[in-house]
Amino acid sequence: MPKSEQYLKEAFAGESQANRKYLAFAAAADKESYRQVAKLFRAAAEAETIHAHNHLRVLKGVKSTRENLQEAINGETDEFNRMYPGMITTAKAEGNKEAERSFNYANEVEKGHAKLYQKLLDTLGTSKESYPYYVCPICGNTVENEPPGVCPICGTAGKMFKKIE
Ligand code: FE2
Ligand code: FE2
Ligand code: FE2
Repeated sequence: MPKSEQYLKEAFAGESQANRKYLAFAAAADKESYRQVAKLFRAAAEAETIHAHNHLRVLKGVKSTRENLQEAINGETDEFNRMYPGMITTAKAEGNKEAERSFNYANEVEKGHAKLYQKLLDTLGTSKESYPYYVCPICGNTVENEPPGVCPICGTAGKMFKKIE
């Protein structure tokens, strides 16, 4: 692979991580009442997203929605078939309960993501249905239409779920 392409991939990963890290730092700054610091973290996070998207565009990483759905399904499937099971086994062996739980949450949720993507891919361009999704703030469990009474993955109350429309 040409060096520039390798660098674009590395830079995309780094900028993506910086975006999420700065948003977490902003929330922490808000909690500590450092409002101006929180604003700067949010502004920089926004800029890192632009950098990440610029790199991704140069990599031609965004294709048609049909292709993007398939890529998302492939990625999610690899996570719950290969990546997380291996990580869970290692976390267990090392006695790292927090890591094990964090991996378990993601592993369970990715199965749902693959199904939700597959459902839309199967009817792409033929269905006019419109409905919201709800996301669990603790484990990321993602469901259609209505939140459950209690999250089946982590036990959080459904009323805490974030609505996405
Ligand atoms: Fe950046
Ligand atoms: Fe996912
Ligand atoms: Fe949950």
